[in-house]
Amino acid sequence: MFTQMKTPAILFFILFLCGIFFTAAIAADDAPQVDPALELIHALGCKGCHVIRGKGGSLATDLTQIGSRLSAEQIEVQLTSDPTTRLKGFMPSYISLPKNDLKRVSKYLYNLH
Ligand code: HEC
Repeated sequence: MFTQMKTPAILFFILFLCGIFFTAAIAADDAPQVDPALELIHALGCKGCHVIRGKGGSLATDLTQIGSRLSAEQIEVQLTSDPTTRLKGFMPSYISLPKNDLKRVSKYLYNLH
């Protein structure tokens, strides 16, 4: 008599725990760690003109291997340079970006190669 009454409650409790574990597992799968630098690169539209790791526009150079030619500092200089001093001046200047963001993007690109 005692065990008969408790069984549904125990089953319900076990199902409830399974639900928590499944939800946690799905949440962990759904939230891959996105590199903040990559988020910036997406938000700033770099891929509108540049290919990065196989995706992006072909208006300018592929940046995937840029780290083999430029240092992180040189990439940062490119990002903040005055467009009128460049050969093809249509890359916008990102000089108004916070210094931390500039460093983040430059380091990310430098480390890609
Ligand atoms: C509107 C198009 C456009 C956008 C958007 C753009 N670029 Fe560029 N980018 C260019 C062009 C054109 C050049 C070549 C400029 C020159 O002659 O110096 C260039 C050059 C570069 C270079 C030097 C490449 C080399 O081969 O020396 C780097 C690094 C770079 N861009 C990074 C970025 C990053 C990072 C972003 C996003 C924050 C970005 N670009 C957004 C058009 C663009």
